[in-house]
Amino acid sequence: MELKIALLPGDGIGPEVVAQAVKCLRAIEEIFNHKFTYTEGLIGATSIYQTGVPLSEETIKLCSDSDAVLFGAIGSPEFDDDLDAKVRPESGLFQLRKELGVFANIRPVAVFPTLLKKSPLKESVLRGTDFVIYREISSGIYSGDRKLSKDGTTASDLCEYSEKEISRITHLAFKAAKKRRKKLTLIDKSNVLETSRLWRRVVKRIAESYPDVELECLFIDNAIMQMILNPSKFDVILTENLFGDIISDEGSVIGGSIGLLPSASIGEGKAMFEPIHGSYPQAKGKDIANPIATILSAAMLLQHFGLEEESRAVVSAVNKALKKNIVTPDINIKSKFGTNDVGDFIATNIVDTDETLNMNYENIGLGKSTII
Ligand code: IPM
Ligand code: MG
Repeated sequence: MELKIALLPGDGIGPEVVAQAVKCLRAIEEIFNHKFTYTEGLIGATSIYQTGVPLSEETIKLCSDSDAVLFGAIGSPEFDDDLDAKVRPESGLFQLRKELGVFANIRPVAVFPTLLKKSPLKESVLRGTDFVIYREISSGIYSGDRKLSKDGTTASDLCEYSEKEISRITHLAFKAAKKRRKKLTLIDKSNVLETSRLWRRVVKRIAESYPDVELECLFIDNAIMQMILNPSKFDVILTENLFGDIISDEGSVIGGSIGLLPSASIGEGKAMFEPIHGSYPQAKGKDIANPIATILSAAMLLQHFGLEEESRAVVSAVNKALKKNIVTPDINIKSKFGTNDVGDFIATNIVDTDETLNMNYENIGLGKSTII
């Protein structure tokens, strides 16, 4: 297969982790006889410094001319610390999500058997945890009007959702649940927010077309508590943009490190793949960032294009690294392995085999996790 892949390494540790994922994709090309081309583009703070904007026309064109986008991370302390900044790196990411027409951000949360002890949760609580978050990523408070009064004393952010925006991701989430354990949890705050009440109405109506899927509706405050007390009860989680951002970081540490969780954003056409973590500026250039979330995002990319064996081969190599403790210090504080070592190990251990390593080879693109 030929694929044009746009690489947007972005800020902080982005370039380091994307480089490791590319090593793995190159190994896949060689072993499975594919031809991928990679073209790098600027985004985020890096782009602001070079072009004045967080997402240039050139990068937009690169992404729309490509089959998929592999994204690293965005954000920089200079901007985080400047509350009055006129332009922000993150707005490049929001604009890109819009340009690509992606609306469903799929974040599988599973526990690697070898890492059970790394989780802040007890093994007994953790066992069996395997859920996937469907986060609406195109709308809500992320894209509503923001206002600050002239005297700087009053501010507002508008959270708006249309029925269409809710129903398109809801159908995807129900379809994923049908192929999994047939449970969908809608997370909202419908005791307070009008948008949440609209979500509930739309989701309940759509649920009637999926009678074999059990629908549960939870308020966000209760849901985040239950995710800690009983994470294995969740199967597919459906939620709006901001709640999805927050609970996915919570979900990630359940598995032992935020550096492990990949994501896929899909929608009307193009798809984008990115680790769920941020730019981790403190680690930039230190060769300590965990590349696994980005490598698994590349595995989701392969899966998205129907390259199932190839995707499995990447996930198997990741499992091998975890099993052999070839990991970065976020997983093993005493580890002498860096970002590059872990990337090299995984890339060189990608082999054409159907050997299973506790893997669940279901469709990642439909939100099924690959790791059990
Ligand atoms: C994520 C990130 C982004 C988001 C940030 C960097 C703007 O936290 O993808 O989860 O909030 O969407
Ligand atoms: Mg986030």
